[in-house]
Amino acid sequence: MATPATLATCDLSHTLETLLRSAIITALGTAAGAADPQLKPSASPKFGDFQANFAMALAKTLGRNPREVAQAVVAAAPPALMDLCESLEIAGPGFVNIRLKPSSIAQALALMDSPGLGVPDSQQTQTIAVDLCGVNVAKQMHVGHLRATIIGDTIARMHERLGWRVFRQNHLGDWGLPIAMTLASLRRAGVDLSRATLDDLNAAYRRAQTEGLPEAPEHDAALADAHDTLRKLQAHDPDTVAQWQAIIEVTMREVFSSARTLGVILGPEHSRGESFFRDRLGATADAFVAAGLAERDAGALIVRFPGRERPLLIQKSDGTSLYATTDLAAARYRIEELGADLVAYCVDARQRDHFKDVFDAVAMIGWTRRAGKPDARLVHVPFGAVLGEDKRPLKTRSGENVTLASLLAEATARGRREVHARAQAPDAPTAGLSSDELDAIGQSVGIAAIKYADLSGDVGRDYVFDLDRMISFEGDTGPYAQYAVARIAGILAKAGANGRGAPLIIATDEERALGLHLLRYGSTLKAAAAALAPNRLAAYIYELANTFNSFYQACPVLKGSDPDLRASRLRLCDLSRRVLSDALSLMGIDSPARM
Ligand code: ARG
Repeated sequence: MATPATLATCDLSHTLETLLRSAIITALGTAAGAADPQLKPSASPKFGDFQANFAMALAKTLGRNPREVAQAVVAAAPPALMDLCESLEIAGPGFVNIRLKPSSIAQALALMDSPGLGVPDSQQTQTIAVDLCGVNVAKQMHVGHLRATIIGDTIARMHERLGWRVFRQNHLGDWGLPIAMTLASLRRAGVDLSRATLDDLNAAYRRAQTEGLPEAPEHDAALADAHDTLRKLQAHDPDTVAQWQAIIEVTMREVFSSARTLGVILGPEHSRGESFFRDRLGATADAFVAAGLAERDAGALIVRFPGRERPLLIQKSDGTSLYATTDLAAARYRIEELGADLVAYCVDARQRDHFKDVFDAVAMIGWTRRAGKPDARLVHVPFGAVLGEDKRPLKTRSGENVTLASLLAEATARGRREVHARAQAPDAPTAGLSSDELDAIGQSVGIAAIKYADLSGDVGRDYVFDLDRMISFEGDTGPYAQYAVARIAGILAKAGANGRGAPLIIATDEERALGLHLLRYGSTLKAAAAALAPNRLAAYIYELANTFNSFYQACPVLKGSDPDLRASRLRLCDLSRRVLSDALSLMGIDSPARM
């Protein structure tokens, strides 16, 4: 009689890979053992749970027939592999179809059923710095900042969940001539900074931009005033510094308020703006000169790259630094002082060239090298634009940029309307809740709608902002995923039990499919984080919600009469609910108990 398998972890595909590798070595020798078993979930449950495709590539290197290779490996399967599987079948040119024993799936699920839900924990051996938000002082936040903020937050949360050390770095535009122009313009207009709003600052910023245009009559005076202001700021003139701090505060008050509404972890402790690096800019340029990597070009300092036309300007001919200089200093700081193994820059795709140049310059000067460790990696996560229905960058009817605050207000209002309307039905789970309670759920739904829509697409792609589609309770949307969690919570509440600790019974195809998908949570999260791709997590969530719904349709949970089956199914419900809500929380999306 076959002994049941004993699993060390709930990662079944990892266990299968290890066992297949040892079968390959037994059958074909150690050299072949380096081959990838090429294990993946089966395309259709008819063929089993997994398919291993190693035979085709191996046969080619060994000069043998792939079916024979597959046969030899299956014949050499170690007992532990046979204990895990119901069948290993060879199909077509040499695919190996693997069907697990129900008891293996049940055992793995029982291992997964812990507070960590089977997610691997790196014990903080790796460090990531996430460059996110990056708003400019005195400028209104718009939809681009929505993306820089929520993509960055999700990447940070995924790594936190996997046990990385995470530094959120809000690279604010809070230094330099544009800020000085705005400050000078505010002072000329006599604006009282203690009562100014971000709109007031934004207006001054615009005015400063127009006054600074070469054809503007006040150009010379405005520019002289701005330079004077910058000089005072750099010389720590108390009044100028106080005004500068005041405009930062007005800006950040609104930034943090939007972050709160969005469920994003972002506070003053994450601000590492351009001004933070102001005393390191000279040394940065000097380092490039000393390394022989920068050259003078009409008084300015530039870095050239082999085989690239475009040089990187790191100092203007008047001796002042630029956006790139700050980014060079910031990259060095993140690697050397924060100890980042990886820096992920969540910034608009239009800055692609900028980051390519900065990253190459940092590598050339050797700041990515670390003693006894692999080079630190700098990665741009370039995101696409948010478009209006006309497929052009989102604008208001009057042609203005859509502010983030107005977008959030619209999503919240819409979510509330939706939730209030649904609560009218007498059998709605939300029937009878107070108006405040419905408002809170509605806000959560509205915000989930826009966040999920943003995060579920390929980050680099543009998308159309369509609130009707985003807020639908059907399809691949945030509210659909939230609703799945609420629905399961309702089932568990009705049962008055959650099946925890009950023996799991994997009897039907739907239980098997749900179990296998649940077991993929840890590895999916790891892959999504490694690819810096929140959309992979979203795809997992959507599939889990769908797989759960098929399970619930096919397998009576509350109506069944067999108490063991009922307890097992309740436990599957409970596990599904916890995984869904954990995955949503990594996008900063909460799961209301009723919807
Ligand atoms: N403030 C910049 C902008 O609005 C974004 C900053 C992005 N981060 C960076 N390290 N450059 O374009």
